[in-house]
Amino acid sequence: MWEYTKKRLLQYVMNRWFFPLRPLSPATEEPAMGGIPGVDELVARMTTEEKCAYIGGTAGFSIRGIPRLNLPPILMADASCGVRGADAPVTAFPSPVALAASWNKAAVHACARMIAEECRATGVAILLAPGINIARVPVCGRNFEYMGEDPFLAGEIASAYVKGVQSLGVGVTVKHFACNNGEYDRHKSNSVVDERTLRELYLPAFHAVVRSGATGVMTAYNQINGTYASEHPHLIGKILRGEWKFDGLVVSDWNSLYSTEGAFRHGVDIEMPKAKWFVPGTVADLLTRKPELAKILDNKVRTILTTASRLGALQRPAVDLAYEVGSEEHRRAASRLAAESVVLLKHGGMLPLDKNRVRKLVILGAFASGEPIGGGGSSFIKQAQPAQALLPVLGKLLPQTEISVHEGRWWMSTKKRREVAKADAVIITTGFGHILESEAYDRPWRLPDREIRNIVESCELNDKVTVIVHAGGAFEMQSWIDRPQEVLLAWYLGSEGAQGLTDLLLGKTNPSGKLPITIAKKLEDHVSMSNYPTDFSRFSIKRITVGQGNPKKRSVKALDYREALMVGYRQFDTIGPEPLYPFGHGLSYTTFSYSDLTIAKKAHAWQISWKLTNEGAVAGAEVCQLYVRPEFPDADHPMQQLRGFDKVFLQPGESSEVDMELSDEDFSEYSVTEGRWIMVRGVYTIAIGSSSRDIRLCDRLDIGIPDQRRR
Ligand code: BGC
Repeated sequence: MWEYTKKRLLQYVMNRWFFPLRPLSPATEEPAMGGIPGVDELVARMTTEEKCAYIGGTAGFSIRGIPRLNLPPILMADASCGVRGADAPVTAFPSPVALAASWNKAAVHACARMIAEECRATGVAILLAPGINIARVPVCGRNFEYMGEDPFLAGEIASAYVKGVQSLGVGVTVKHFACNNGEYDRHKSNSVVDERTLRELYLPAFHAVVRSGATGVMTAYNQINGTYASEHPHLIGKILRGEWKFDGLVVSDWNSLYSTEGAFRHGVDIEMPKAKWFVPGTVADLLTRKPELAKILDNKVRTILTTASRLGALQRPAVDLAYEVGSEEHRRAASRLAAESVVLLKHGGMLPLDKNRVRKLVILGAFASGEPIGGGGSSFIKQAQPAQALLPVLGKLLPQTEISVHEGRWWMSTKKRREVAKADAVIITTGFGHILESEAYDRPWRLPDREIRNIVESCELNDKVTVIVHAGGAFEMQSWIDRPQEVLLAWYLGSEGAQGLTDLLLGKTNPSGKLPITIAKKLEDHVSMSNYPTDFSRFSIKRITVGQGNPKKRSVKALDYREALMVGYRQFDTIGPEPLYPFGHGLSYTTFSYSDLTIAKKAHAWQISWKLTNEGAVAGAEVCQLYVRPEFPDADHPMQQLRGFDKVFLQPGESSEVDMELSDEDFSEYSVTEGRWIMVRGVYTIAIGSSSRDIRLCDRLDIGIPDQRRR
């Protein structure tokens, strides 16, 4: 209880710190300069003092303006679920893990474009999103803000997101680069990762978004192999700038620098939220001692200006009132995407609810009087209105139904027990919420005892129970999963979650979300947990807050990624054990059949095609997944990896051909000895399925005689 109160206090402090961001309005923010010179000319005109000051942020979230040069301030804002901190009634969209669970790139693109519209309306030039760290451990407090356990899925969904945001000239900073896969002591941990695992698991999603044209990258708090992410020559210099040829902005995470020279030489372009290590005097001293570094300063300034200029942020007024926040259109899109991302884990036939038969309905659980909007921390979007609850939304559509809501320990009251027992349907809306699941600390594996009791008690009394769980990642279900008829995993769905859920409960929308993570039976089933601190859920404000950015007060502990590639389904499908729900799992009110698999060789690719049919009586969408399995994988190699997916909408009885393409890259591994990706020839199985363990079609693909292994 005391733990909970402390977490609540921290959330309060974090929200006070972040709210309100200085609201921008056209009245206070004049249109940017009439005629801004080119970037090179600007750099040439800036004094050394101005340049030194330019690489440190200001006002919490801004790149400073230079009135003398007509340079406007450039405002950044969190984050992935919508614009945080602007003093406006913005829309809270579903959290990134929900976007990944939708497996719908077009819908994510559309929603990201709407977030960008809200940025343009509130003067935000750069959105500090999306988060794409791999869900290495299920208890990471920030898994809700990331896109699941698979780098291919995360890369594809994040690319759609980035393209959507950037289509309106709003920048992004993809974060947190890299290996920030837990919140436990994130400022004091050193992720020790071997090069192959880094390349094959933790970096590909970043590479994908960089290839999609992302304008910015945010570094992480932690160290990677002994060096802070904000000053990492291997990650930033060699890989990001060198191999991936990224010429956009590298932003520090807030208060994450630990040196001046290291970060200046090898790291970020700008220190946020303000200069602590890039203090103008300190940078000037460094340049006096080492004048040869002056061109680095010019490069950083040039990169910041080029990024802003490419976005158009130097040339246009910050606020554009042609765009709206919180419009009806945005809210409808948010609720559609919310419905599309919910995963029907267990289906016993009770859903969709039959309007004519449900006369008495009871709603129970921690979120019975308000659906949770998001997880906690910097992505949390505070709404002016109280959170929408299921009752009013469901009630409107079920005018004949008597609906009662019981929060708290209803099972202590005989009257309420009787009501639950007599109900035609019971809906429990439960989960963690933004106090328990947040940035800055990890979350427990089990739901709070009271919530489990809620499920158990109601299932004892009634066999028509639907459980809706709000969580950002996997959690313990094994102890209660047999009891309810229906279980929906509803992540955090933003401000329109109640509408999205109602559409699913009443069958207006057919569930089509699929797990972007694996749900294990036991926490210990994740090999990664054996290499993770056992006191992960212990919480201390002091531990979190003291000494951030101060190496003298910090002693860094190694966080060994010894499990290497054995994370998520890569582990469960290769070495077991059997998970409770596999990666890619998600049920529907209809059924789909797969047939007629063909593989055809094209010039530089293989085309894989099959037929998908909706066999049921209602329209629905299926996420078809393509896995590549080497015939003779190495001992430490995953038995299969996702290399393609498509979400296909079909009317009852309708069929469609699904096509995917595989290229050499899809059969490549990172060779540490050669320092590059190499294609591994040999025989593969192409496995097409509805989840990583529900494979419906398979065929063999021979791509030539294997080379001598060079790893
Ligand atoms: C988070 C970042 C966020 C920044 C600014 C940090 O605590 O790690 O993701 O963008 O704060 O709010």
